[in-house]
Amino acid sequence: MPPSIQHLSPDVFHLQTRNSSIVVSPGEAGHLELLWFGDRLHLADPNQVAALRPDPATSGATVTYGRTRDSLMSLHQQPLAFATHGKGDFREPALGVVGQRVLDFTFRHHRIVDGVVAADGLPGADAEPESQTLEITLADDVAGLEVVLRWTTFPHSDVFSRRTEIRNTGNGTVTLDRAASLLLDLPDAGFDVITLDGWWANEARPTRTRLGHQRITNASVTGSSSSEHNPGVLLVEHTATETSGRGYGFNLVYSGSHATTFEGGRGNLVRVAGGINPEGFGWELAPGESFITPEAVMTYSSEGIGGISRNFHRFIDDCIVPAHWRRRPRPVVLNNWEGTYFDFDAPTILEIAERAVELGVETFVLDDGWFGARDDDLRGLGDWVVNTTKLEGGLGALIDGVRALGLDFGLWFEPESINPDSELYRAHPEWAIHQPSRTPSEGRHQYLLDLTRSDVRDHLVTTVGGFLDEYPISFVKWDMNRLISDAAPDGFHHRYILGLYDVLGRIFGPRPEVLLENCSSGGNRFDLGVLSFGPQIWTSDCTDPVERLAIQEGISLLYPASTISAHVSASPNHQTGRASSLDYRFAVSAPYVFGVELDPRTMPAAEITALGERITWYKQRRALLQFGEHHRVEKRGDGRIQLTATDGERAVSAYYTTHIRPGSHGPVWQVPGLDGAATARRVFGEGAAEPTALHLPDGVLGQGVAPPTLGEGEAALFDVTRISG
Ligand code: GLA
Repeated sequence: MPPSIQHLSPDVFHLQTRNSSIVVSPGEAGHLELLWFGDRLHLADPNQVAALRPDPATSGATVTYGRTRDSLMSLHQQPLAFATHGKGDFREPALGVVGQRVLDFTFRHHRIVDGVVAADGLPGADAEPESQTLEITLADDVAGLEVVLRWTTFPHSDVFSRRTEIRNTGNGTVTLDRAASLLLDLPDAGFDVITLDGWWANEARPTRTRLGHQRITNASVTGSSSSEHNPGVLLVEHTATETSGRGYGFNLVYSGSHATTFEGGRGNLVRVAGGINPEGFGWELAPGESFITPEAVMTYSSEGIGGISRNFHRFIDDCIVPAHWRRRPRPVVLNNWEGTYFDFDAPTILEIAERAVELGVETFVLDDGWFGARDDDLRGLGDWVVNTTKLEGGLGALIDGVRALGLDFGLWFEPESINPDSELYRAHPEWAIHQPSRTPSEGRHQYLLDLTRSDVRDHLVTTVGGFLDEYPISFVKWDMNRLISDAAPDGFHHRYILGLYDVLGRIFGPRPEVLLENCSSGGNRFDLGVLSFGPQIWTSDCTDPVERLAIQEGISLLYPASTISAHVSASPNHQTGRASSLDYRFAVSAPYVFGVELDPRTMPAAEITALGERITWYKQRRALLQFGEHHRVEKRGDGRIQLTATDGERAVSAYYTTHIRPGSHGPVWQVPGLDGAATARRVFGEGAAEPTALHLPDGVLGQGVAPPTLGEGEAALFDVTRISG
């Protein structure tokens, strides 16, 4: 492969990955234009770029920039890669400065460097072997500002990233009221916007909206990336399906309030602008200071929605999650939350751990309630002192007992939060986020600690780090159960997230082998920012298998199976009251990071044996399930969901029913991603009694064959193996 960034001619830059290209060029007037983002181009001759250049003609009531290319040019109709207001472009801008209604940035110089350019204090993707970064510097001398756009290639993953740095080169302080990470204008191919929307225990429901001549903004203002609107978004052709059509995926390596706007309309262009939410942003820059935005990541695929997902999956597995955990299978955990809630003591935990060993569990995770006066969610948060009434003998003795059984030990923390009824709050009320003369509002009976304060951050690093140094803890579940309120000063949300990254980096950076599972009331912070510090996320507080099928399928649009923590819980389910079979619950959790979340002491011996057999099966296929190619099957007909994890030679295929209509046998059974003749053997469940494998001729798996006969709430899992030769 040629260098992933080519400087084709003085004013043409070609960025390429295995299957995609971006071409940017300062236009004649110096504004950075996006000439191409799509299929990979083979640009031998810079003159070929002429065909990509937009027609600069203006029409109707437009503002013209000046006479260029023998014609009048309006910025409003140019495909730009950076844009501001004041000179005729009325679309969503990338940058805003308080008090300056006119900004105009033009090209100054460029630099190409190998690898990535990291940003202090912010997480970012790590380079692939052939990654390069193109830095383009633009400036507005009147405003006294410079903008550096950094584009990085991830050739193997088919991903590009972009950050924006804004430098105050003038003499006075300026206040930025918006600073997007990304802005680009794409030719309007007739797009739909797909967002992942939801709320607590009901995360990542895809909403597909047709983009017309309008703005659609996907945003969070809660201080978290949020379960209401995940920062990841897709822009796909109206006709795109799981397997066909062109489209783009966008995401941010960021965990705070965000906004991405899609604007259709003028010039047959669609503008995409995304980054930190401008609401309440207000960031002051003194002379000589810079602001660097979070990294935006983007991918293009001509292989449908599934192609976009798989590009991002590869990228996250290889470049985002911490290096120690890349492609490293995640352990099978048993978490006691739904098994005991706050009601446990040391003997209970040890009995549960003994049963967990029989199941084949590898790590026992002790959830909320082990510290302070924490017998319910009303008090104790902030008091990270072992509750020896519950854990007589202390935490060390409990961990020794668990480890003596052959299990690793994990522990729950919610470091960012504090109950007003806690020793810590009584000692340091000023540490909670608050405004003078106002009583802060509670969420789940708690306040948030002010992570913009260095004394608070130091306290958290020492406290959590102290536990990790004192005890053999191999797993931390890091929870965060409320949204930010009472934070008046501008820029607070972003400073809070910078504080969080500082704390996570200082705790987990020096301890890479500790597995950090992020959680925020389930998926309220399911984002690439926290994934840069810990490789998996507790996806949802809803563990009902029917609901989880939808939530997991939604989140898999943008995040790989290896990040999606999925546990088998008790039946009837605690959130919905729905009863379901063990086989069904297992089949729903198995294609992701599998775990158990119930009290195994309540399970009859036969169920312990059955779940143990299934966990053995899972462990044998764990690398395939967590890191294989993930293919969803387009839904046809109600109530059926299918997916495949494959490495091209082997696959695990899953077919689920959520509800049955009389007389419907369901759509065909398909195993996308595995070509050629294959054998398929159903595992577990009724059909598994059949000892012989199905022999499937070449070609049928992609198109599909008759589905397994399933009743409502049943699932079929298949081991599929390609017949070589
Ligand atoms: C949140 C988490 C749960 C559990 C509880 C404990 O709701 O999402 O998994 O840890 O807190 O209080």
